[in-house]
Amino acid sequence: MKLHVTAIKNVTNRIRLFTLTGTGALPRYTAGAHLDFDLGDVGVRSYSLVDFDPIKDQLDAYHIAVQLEPEGDGGSQAMHALNVGDTVSVTAPKNSFNLHVSDAPAILIAGGIGVTPIISFATELHHRGHPFELHYAAQSRDVCAFAPELEQAFPDPLTLWLDDHTRIDVAQILADAPAQAHIYCCGPKGMIDAVRTAAETAGYPAERVRFELFETPQREVDDAAFEVEINDGRCFTIPPGKTIIEVLEDADVDVMYDCQRGDCGICQTDIISGDPDHRDVVLSEAERASGKVIQICVSRAKSARLVLDI
Ligand code: FES
Repeated sequence: MKLHVTAIKNVTNRIRLFTLTGTGALPRYTAGAHLDFDLGDVGVRSYSLVDFDPIKDQLDAYHIAVQLEPEGDGGSQAMHALNVGDTVSVTAPKNSFNLHVSDAPAILIAGGIGVTPIISFATELHHRGHPFELHYAAQSRDVCAFAPELEQAFPDPLTLWLDDHTRIDVAQILADAPAQAHIYCCGPKGMIDAVRTAAETAGYPAERVRFELFETPQREVDDAAFEVEINDGRCFTIPPGKTIIEVLEDADVDVMYDCQRGDCGICQTDIISGDPDHRDVVLSEAERASGKVIQICVSRAKSARLVLDI
């Protein structure tokens, strides 16, 4: 779709809220959905749709909030270069971070700009009259996106955790959560790892804990090249700075993927042999330890070669 930027609002020094419209009604979506933006030379970047109003049958605008990352990979810089009146090229909304449909309470945990899909969840749950808690962690109030709006919309469920006052304690939040609660977390990898560890310690089954990673996977400075062998016998070298998916696609190998951040699980691939270096936020500790599957969008290898069932 081609959409027009019809409004831009500064939410904080680094976060801008963009309003996008088309030429008529826009495709509907569910809370937690995102748009993929084609940013030309920068590539494709995903941004979650954010809603303080329940999603209507007739949609005439999308809203996304983007935090500028001056040291990032260019996506947020390209978005912040947009002006009102510009046109952007996006996919229809996609959702790999859905709300459950049971009556169980929801515990929403957001870190930084990862609050955007969590706001849409809170709006939807509030609209349904469904019990939920909303925990939002940020470094300080001045970098906290939408704090006044959240305090007004969700005064009881909301707890703001500000690092310069009280750091979020995810282990305690999960320990205090109502029985059968479903956990949703969106934020940086450190927060997701902490929530996953706390959830496993507290005995939450995997189907009641869902994540969305809100940062571009970081390359590690000591990444080394390794080899990947696939079912037809071809072998590829994965250099530092390239993912398995990128190398396989360059060679016209058909692979399935979506997020390319390691949080949707769509690219999961069986390992025939080799030792993976997991960088995703999808797998449980038991799945990691098994060494039987790998998310080929972000993960690498500790061994010199991985043989994959592709
Ligand atoms: S594409 Fe989403 S986890 Fe790999």
